Amino acid sequence: MILDTIKKRRAVFPVQYNDKPIHKEVVEQLLEAANWAPTHRKTEPWRFKVLMGESKDKLGVFLSKKYQEVEDRPKQVKVKKLQENPRRSAVVIAICMQRDPKESLPEWEELAATAMAVQNMWLCCADMGIGCYWSSPGLIKYMDEFFDLKDGEKCLGFFYMGHYDEEIPDGIRGPISEKVEWMD
Ligand SMILES: Cc1cc2nc3c(=O)[nH]c(=O)nc-3n(C[C@H](O)[C@H](O)[C@H](O)COP(=O)(O)O)c2cc1C
Repeated sequence: MILDTIKKRRAVFPVQYNDKPIHKEVVEQLLEAANWAPTHRKTEPWRFKVLMGESKDKLGVFLSKKYQEVEDRPKQVKVKKLQENPRRSAVVIAICMQRDPKESLPEWEELAATAMAVQNMWLCCADMGIGCYWSSPGLIKYMDEFFDLKDGEKCLGFFYMGHYDEEIPDGIRGPISEKVEWMD
């Protein structure tokens, strides 16, 4: 039942990942799942940059350097974490959104469609026992200095992925009854 996978899906962080690789074929399946997200006016705004191998290290170096450059008082723990997170991950996928040049719909709808594409990948990872999470540091506004972003393309964060060994605790949510108004 898909509800079981939805409830089992968790944010699993790079510090929890082991060294087991994730093969390109698996990443291709995740991207295929992403590509089936709903999309208003069929703009299919999700764009992804897949970082495997050395490009992950380069991302880590870029993020930690940029953080030190823009922060008045950079914290060493954060410098280290920014550098290490991509290296600890088997794969990093940069999550990007391509705004429809005709602006045929509001931007929020394209952000929503991209987020649904990410949820598709996240659920597939949960199903396959792969750990992952969406990281959205403030530094994403500088990603045009690292990626060749097209006109109207924005980076919305990073999808860090890796296998893990430890037990992941159950998720926590407040009751849905507090978030719903039933109407006759
Ligand atoms: C759009 C988005 C951005 C997120 N950005 C971050 C982030 O920058 N750092 C982080 O630790 N978690 C981030 N998360 C993951 C959440 O922390 C995580 O989903 C939340 O703690 C609930 O845990 P669960 O997903 O395991 O149920 C993000 C999630 C979403 C949907």
